[in-house]
Amino acid sequence: MRDEKGFDLWADGYDRAVGLSYEEGSYPFAGYREVLNDIYKTVMEKPRAVVLDIGFGTGTLTSKLYEKGCDVFGQDFSDRMIKLAYQKMPNARLYKGDFSLGLNEELKGVRYDFIIATYSLHHLDDERKVSFLNELRGLLAPGGRILIGDVAFSDREQLERCKKEAGEGWDDEEFYFVADELMKHFPSLAFKRISRCAGVLSID
Ligand SMILES: C[S@@+](CC[C@H](N)C(=O)[O-])C[C@H]1O[C@@H](n2cnc3c(N)ncnc32)[C@H](O)[C@@H]1O
Repeated sequence: MRDEKGFDLWADGYDRAVGLSYEEGSYPFAGYREVLNDIYKTVMEKPRAVVLDIGFGTGTLTSKLYEKGCDVFGQDFSDRMIKLAYQKMPNARLYKGDFSLGLNEELKGVRYDFIIATYSLHHLDDERKVSFLNELRGLLAPGGRILIGDVAFSDREQLERCKKEAGEGWDDEEFYFVADELMKHFPSLAFKRISRCAGVLSID
């Protein structure tokens, strides 16, 4: 599994690497831009929304929301990703912290209209996902939503099909979202399939 130093090294080539996998329509980034766009459109429905981005990376999505007037907060553990994101969003409140240990204290006093996480939370195993998502849910403003865009499937059968297609390229160290399993913990969860390996999950 990639640690914070691994992400530091990946940071400068990240946008390009994602672009290549996206252009090929291959796992893991098939549908990446549509996933980000879907979340962007939902957040845009609320003017000047307060948004927390978990694992914001180079700020591909959040910087677009920032440019449209959203109040942006974020947590990521890679110094390099944070630096690149700050260049695009100098007034955003971006904090360094490992989300497998929970949320940074500075982020706990705010109530968010949207908490977004794209291609980041698959680093948590299913049990930790549930407890972290419960923690995040407690920070939603009235009417707020958690929006997760990631490698995600409606059920395990769909995941297994994708795994077979991906062959040796499949990453066994990541824990991808399976909507009908997570729904047992979050009955309000809605899942939108975007590509053969990606989707958007919404929890309110
Ligand atoms: C694949 S990138 C996704 C970046 C961005 N959200 C996107 O959609 O392009 C994953 C991001 O999550 C961060 N990340 C991964 N594990 C993390 C952890 N345990 N704590 C904090 N950040 C983490 C990485 O540093 C990286 O910026």
